[in-house]
Amino acid sequence: MKKIILALDIYDFKKAEKLIKETSPYIDVYKVGHILFLQSGKEIIKMIKDNGKEIFLDLKFHDIPATVKRSVESAKELGVFSLTVHSIGGEEMLKAAASVENRPKIWAVTVLTSQITNPEEVVRRAKLTKTCGIDGVISSPLEISLIKKECGKEFNVVTPGIRPAKADDDQKRVATPEMAVKEGADFIVVGRPILEAESPAQAAKNIYETTLIK
Ligand code: C5P
Repeated sequence: MKKIILALDIYDFKKAEKLIKETSPYIDVYKVGHILFLQSGKEIIKMIKDNGKEIFLDLKFHDIPATVKRSVESAKELGVFSLTVHSIGGEEMLKAAASVENRPKIWAVTVLTSQITNPEEVVRRAKLTKTCGIDGVISSPLEISLIKKECGKEFNVVTPGIRPAKADDDQKRVATPEMAVKEGADFIVVGRPILEAESPAQAAKNIYETTLIK
């Protein structure tokens, strides 16, 4: 059930609450990024928890090691399920983030899915983050199986760039939800295909049904 993460890339608290209520039969984890966190901060976290759901805090930390470590400690206090750091922050920064005890899961961004890159670069970064104690990476659907092969089954692969149908937007490396799950994604991150659907509940249901492992 925890497979689908809905990216709440919206400004409005009330709209977020409505979306959570509508999609809750199909989604357990909601992604809060800069857009909503800058508007509603702690309140949004509390509201999601009050609805019995978990939070993926996607603030993509990238700073000096000491600051990133404190940021992870701060996110831990909020009680989030997972958070992101940028792999380009380097080894020392990644190790500092991972060193926080009893912390949320940490996933590192390899290369943004809106950018074109080669799979070798993504895998190189994934391996680096693993040796630093990071729990997994955010990766496009196209590199999932390679990362699993190189980093092992336990290493989480979290996949945005999910498009149930052909879309003309900024995502470059995309796949359907079904393909991503078949390739071995532990979680798929879906934003606009649900947020912009005529019925977000129906869109979430459709994705949920196609990702059930048969
Ligand atoms: O709307 P869409 O389905 O493209 O949303 C994908 C979400 O995943 C966005 O919130 C985006 O910020 C996030 N993301 C991404 N690529 C990464 C890391 C995060 O698309 N490498």
